[in-house]
Amino acid sequence: MHPPQILKHRTLRPLSPIHRPAHPWVKNDAIYCWQFWRIATGIGFDRLVTPSDSASLADVENDVGLLYHRWSQPGYGEAIATILNWGQQPPLYKTYPDALQIDLPAPNLAAVTTPDLATTILQRRSHRNYNGSTALSLLQLSQVLHLAQGITDDSRDFRTVPSSGALYPLEIYPIVHRVEGLEPGLYHHAIQQHQLELVKAGDLRQPLIKAGLSQDFLGEAQVCFVVSGIFQRTRWKYHERTYRYVLMEAGHLGQNLYLAATALNLGVCGIGAFFDDPLNQLLDIDGETEAALYLVTIGERG
Ligand SMILES: Cc1cc2nc3c(=O)[nH]c(=O)nc-3n(C[C@H](O)[C@H](O)[C@H](O)COP(=O)(O)O)c2cc1C
Repeated sequence: MHPPQILKHRTLRPLSPIHRPAHPWVKNDAIYCWQFWRIATGIGFDRLVTPSDSASLADVENDVGLLYHRWSQPGYGEAIATILNWGQQPPLYKTYPDALQIDLPAPNLAAVTTPDLATTILQRRSHRNYNGSTALSLLQLSQVLHLAQGITDDSRDFRTVPSSGALYPLEIYPIVHRVEGLEPGLYHHAIQQHQLELVKAGDLRQPLIKAGLSQDFLGEAQVCFVVSGIFQRTRWKYHERTYRYVLMEAGHLGQNLYLAATALNLGVCGIGAFFDDPLNQLLDIDGETEAALYLVTIGERG
């Protein structure tokens, strides 16, 4: 199977700062990419990714994401999957029974209803400048978390966010830098109780920035949410479709965070560029049963 030519060209363009439009989050990284490219071409790496009739890294066959995409289509693979053992359904909620638990104030949603939805969607932007001297209130944090994936139907535990099979594979870990009444550190949102569980106290700005490819605003925003996925929650039922679904759901949750922050007049930015292992280590998760998927900063705009 041969990829269309346009895909080849888009994939193969080197990361030159000359040809690539300046973007706030590449900053110095563009220079490093360019230097990396020069060194790589010096040792012949470019020949692997230069268009040619022979196999190259740009071939669809070499893109493990596309291989997965194809393999996870309904059909033959699915039929085989039904006779495989995909394990048991794990608990719907993760808990930290030994952690300090902090009640979040009831979200005052009347304050979130202006501007209206259409205006909120039209105003949504990614913000990377935050006011470094102010703190968020606990109520603001509570509102954002409730709108992100809070429970909206108590009889079925359905939430603000859609979820395949209502299996809710996602967890949110707020890394708090400046929130009134909270010591800085890593927290876990206990959705059922609408509480925070203190997983790790301390100033985590530097390890977070380091894990986030030196994007400094990760430490400047008042809070950075880490969205993780517990794959087995979805996998026991949806088998090889799981990875697709969990990522789709992370997108839904991310958009909820974007719109909640915008409606509250806060800055927000989704971040997909991070080193997985250090971020998973920061959360004390193994990166396999549970893995960090998405970062979202929230805070007062600078
Ligand atoms: C999946 C995803 C990953 C992203 N990763 C980053 C990132 O690592 N750093 C960053 O500053 N912005 C990141 N962004 C934000 C985009 O750069 C931003 O959405 C885009 O420039 C359009 O701007 P807007 O959101 O203001 O409309 C990401 C957005 C998405 C959806």
